[in-house]
Amino acid sequence: MLKLKLLPLLFLLSSFAAEAFAAPAQAPMEMPAEPLRKLQGRFLHITDMHPDPHYRPDMSEKSACHRNKPKKASPRSGDYGMPYSQCDSPFTLTNLTMDFLEKEWSSEIDFVIWTGDSARHDNDRKKPRTTNEIYMLNRAMARRMEEVFTIKGIPVIPSIGNNDVWPHNIMLPGPNTVTSEFSSIWRSFVPFASYQVFQRGGYFSVEVVPGALAVISLNTMYFYHSNTAVGGCDAMDSQDPGNLQFDWLEVQLEVFRGRGMQVWISGHVPPSAVNFFPDCYARYTELSLRYQDTILGHLYGHMNADHFYFLDAEHLRDQRSQEKRAVFDNPRTEKRKGLYKSLLKDFEDMPKTSKNTSYDGYAVVNVSPSVVPNPYMPSFRIFTYNITGTPYAPSHLDGQAAISTCNANTERSTRCKDQKHWHTHPESPSRTNRLWTPLGYAQYYLPALDASSKKHPPKYRLEYLTYPLALLHPPDAAAEAQFAYPIPRRHLPKSLRNATRSESKYAPYRLEDLTIPSWTGLARRLAEGTEEKLRKRFRKYMYMGADEA
Ligand SMILES: *[C@@H]1O[C@H](CO)[C@@H](O)[C@H](O)[C@H]1NC(C)=O
Ligand SMILES: *[C@@H]1O[C@H](CO)[C@@H](O)[C@H](O)[C@H]1NC(C)=O
Ligand SMILES: *[C@@H]1O[C@H](CO)[C@@H](O)[C@H](O)[C@H]1NC(C)=O
Ligand SMILES: *[C@@H]1O[C@H](CO)[C@@H](O)[C@H](O)[C@H]1NC(C)=O
Repeated sequence: MLKLKLLPLLFLLSSFAAEAFAAPAQAPMEMPAEPLRKLQGRFLHITDMHPDPHYRPDMSEKSACHRNKPKKASPRSGDYGMPYSQCDSPFTLTNLTMDFLEKEWSSEIDFVIWTGDSARHDNDRKKPRTTNEIYMLNRAMARRMEEVFTIKGIPVIPSIGNNDVWPHNIMLPGPNTVTSEFSSIWRSFVPFASYQVFQRGGYFSVEVVPGALAVISLNTMYFYHSNTAVGGCDAMDSQDPGNLQFDWLEVQLEVFRGRGMQVWISGHVPPSAVNFFPDCYARYTELSLRYQDTILGHLYGHMNADHFYFLDAEHLRDQRSQEKRAVFDNPRTEKRKGLYKSLLKDFEDMPKTSKNTSYDGYAVVNVSPSVVPNPYMPSFRIFTYNITGTPYAPSHLDGQAAISTCNANTERSTRCKDQKHWHTHPESPSRTNRLWTPLGYAQYYLPALDASSKKHPPKYRLEYLTYPLALLHPPDAAAEAQFAYPIPRRHLPKSLRNATRSESKYAPYRLEDLTIPSWTGLARRLAEGTEEKLRKRFRKYMYMGADEA
């Protein structure tokens, strides 16, 4: 019986079984000195694929879509997944997604940020997960990423999710079997220069445009409050793996800044007061603000719900008085239910005008929804960024004096004694549209998943985009030849392919770019509540039409 159940796994495994059981390969990727391809000014953010080899069509949600065909024709698990459910992704869905990205997007993007959870959930007591299954699923996803992107010279930057380790949520300080297994599974993603650090901590950085633009992949398992195997960045414990990671991150940011480079920070569990241990959250926030002139943005997954929020200097001041912010927990429906309201509340507490906003005190976290239709619909994001203009040159005296993350108990620790100047500047790419500034994103999703079948596979469609409509097309006929469409016309719905509209249901945000002032502006509009449709859209995207709030 066991053999029968494992059959699809073995089938999948067979093509790379040799690698799976061999010692970790010792030939990690060498970054070329120059990008192999012409820059397109776009990248993909994809997250939480959760492939499930036990998924069967026509089964019950209660069994995690593994068995027990219900008598009624619906609801039952579909050929491509079960939307709004607790079930994971069948391979038909992950394959369809990767095939679509290969065919439609791989020639349009420069790199891929892939923020983890590439194994199924532990949601079926009759089929507990094993480490072998977790690694096998991660290996299968990594191999497909290589086929679709890496071999074309497109860097892929993965990160470790809380479901990519066993037991779920628990990861001990490295080096350990998890870091050594992932060094093998991700050997074509982790650059040689990061290899040793990766073996210890499971984090690394990649220069996606050598000498100019980098992506840092953090291992949020060492910050995540559910990981009871670590100390949570306790200021008195300099060897805590969370503290070691922040020490490394600080050096990375300092070095990249010194070289005049810009970086994206990515990871699985988003930094928030409830997701992170309090000291880890404080250190994350402090570094994000201190290097605001070097960090383009923060991209995360895990929540499976589309949203954005701010890390702000007020949180640091609050943290000193041990006050907790109302920012949400991990993906359980009842917790996500409060997400919309708690975000609006946060936005309402922000300064009411741009004049009153001290932009030095903000960083933006963007959380992408998941591929797994648990609990909504499959989706991914295509970001665009500015590839013209001159690099921002950081000056040594930018910004304001530090805000301490320490309190009376920890002030004597080395970290707390050593207060540092903040690097912020209104002309930096996170605050002004210039070279490397994020400009917008288009989010694609798979609606009508339950109405699809093998005969009528579902199709990815545009859900929405952040741009004003005017920026999707060249301003006039003369500009047409030089204008690079942010979203290739064929990937726009027919109603947007020609510049004939002034309004569209696809474009309610109308953000000129994705700088910090643009995001605080959107938050202010949402808080004001005068644009009734805007709030509705924001909530609709968060729950993808599910009846939650
Ligand atoms: C998914 O794709 C892999 C190859 O990438 C293939 O071996 C497997 O059979 C496919 N599975 C399904 C269910 O389509
Ligand atoms: C906001 O700015 C306005 C004018 O710029 C000023 O009059 C007002 O006092 C400020 N409000 C706060 C709360 O700082
Ligand atoms: C990119 O930045 C330059 C300034 O450096 C600006 O002139 C240009 O309009 C920006 N490009 C886009 C597409 O926004
Ligand atoms: C839309 O734009 C394309 C390319 O600019 C043009 O060929 C086509 O005639 C336009 N269609 C309409 C309906 O305006």
